[in-house]
Amino acid sequence: MFTLSLYSQIESTTIKISSDEKAPIISKHIYGHFAEHLGRSVYDGFYVGEDSSIPNTNGIRNDIIDALKGLKTPNLRWPGGCFADEYHWKDGVGPKQDRPVIINTHWGQVEEDNSFGTHEFLKLCELLDAEPYLAGNVGSGTVEELNDWVEYCNYDGNTDMAKWRKANGQEEPWRVKYWGIGNESWGCGGNMTPEYFANLYRQYATYARSYPGSSVKRIASGADADNYHWTEVMMKDVPHWMMWGLSLHYYTRTGWPPSGSATKFDESDYFLIMKQCLKTSEILDTHISIMDKYDPRKRVALVVDEWGSWYAVEEGTNPGFAYQQNSMRDAMIAGISLNMFNERADRIKMANLAQAVNVLQAVILTDGEKMLLTPTYHVMKMYAAHQDSKLLPVSFESPKYTFNGESLPAISASASKDKNGLVHISLVNIDSQKENVVEIDCGELGVEGFTGTVVASKKLQDHNSFDNPGKIAVGEFKDFKFKKGKLSITIPPFSVVMVEGK
Ligand code: AHR
Repeated sequence: MFTLSLYSQIESTTIKISSDEKAPIISKHIYGHFAEHLGRSVYDGFYVGEDSSIPNTNGIRNDIIDALKGLKTPNLRWPGGCFADEYHWKDGVGPKQDRPVIINTHWGQVEEDNSFGTHEFLKLCELLDAEPYLAGNVGSGTVEELNDWVEYCNYDGNTDMAKWRKANGQEEPWRVKYWGIGNESWGCGGNMTPEYFANLYRQYATYARSYPGSSVKRIASGADADNYHWTEVMMKDVPHWMMWGLSLHYYTRTGWPPSGSATKFDESDYFLIMKQCLKTSEILDTHISIMDKYDPRKRVALVVDEWGSWYAVEEGTNPGFAYQQNSMRDAMIAGISLNMFNERADRIKMANLAQAVNVLQAVILTDGEKMLLTPTYHVMKMYAAHQDSKLLPVSFESPKYTFNGESLPAISASASKDKNGLVHISLVNIDSQKENVVEIDCGELGVEGFTGTVVASKKLQDHNSFDNPGKIAVGEFKDFKFKKGKLSITIPPFSVVMVEGK
């Protein structure tokens, strides 16, 4: 718990929050998650099998279901990632003993027995009350396969595909809305040029059809980071009615292959990672400006369907499994990234953290029957308040966080008003040493009082471990004053604060 600060001599930053009728709704889908057949995400993560001693529903861990429901998880992307472009969905339906065993070539070359397939995934989404987002195979699949998958999932009738679904235990179609067409088609998904992929996309998208009562939203495989040419070609060469969304992947890392420990780092490592994360804003703005050029009415959504930190794997773990711990540094990445997505909610309609369980910037880690919630989880829990709320645009000049003669903006913020009139302001202070004071004129917001929560800890490297899973959690925050419509907040070093006004 944080109490009133003594450092009143610190200069403050004025944040202007405007109540703009024309501001967009922050889609709840910006708070989406991702579950790939990678390492211990699905097997030994979400899915332990019905015979497991770990409490489960249809083989899916109950503690994970509860935790993800706690985040109001709006959608879940599956089965990849790179895995999606080598996944043949027909391998994963029907009696489990008849399903083929394949090699997961991208991720550790482990054997994949296909015991978690379409029915199991869609059951998981039903348990989470989340929209499924299925990623279709363009890299090594066929148009027919994709056509059949959509029909199998969504067609309400008596075609062979619909009958096969029913024979496999699902009478009603699932009516899956979100369909990815390819993944990283410039790389693991086929090493294509954008010109070639744009044509292929048009072909595959044609056969990912809407059926009565099951309208599909197609999402095209998009650019990596600052590959602006990819976005340019896709926006130019693909008719916009064929593309509900165009994806973008951006990972916060310091190079390739990913390096640096998730928990053993010093301030210079921290500063560099913050710098990489803050680059997101320039990357988003440049892709958005290209999209605006071709689509000024913003009909095509930007879908950031992979984002998050990527470090070296934890010592002693399979290098192909991308298992990493999650510290206060990751809490900063989550807070800053989500603020950036909220602020661009007129174009960004969906985003998916990579990934949900045991992979990269996970919100949940498991070890046998143990499970822990990471600092990233706690930030996402606080930020769930922004889901489907109206954006209140913010403007301010951030104070600087300076290290070794280089400076970054220390403060990141976003705000929204929900359907019940509650105002939420999320603030991140990345400065590792200094608290920062912000002043907000709440005249336009119509609120009478505030409460606050915070994710903070003593050291940047602090994290939740299986021995101490509750070290970092959402705490009460009181270091603010609200007088005569003016809110003054003292944000502790490297912390994420959410204030709620009513
Ligand atoms: O999230 C891990 C991998 O990162 C995904 O499979 C791929 O799309 C990206 O390169």
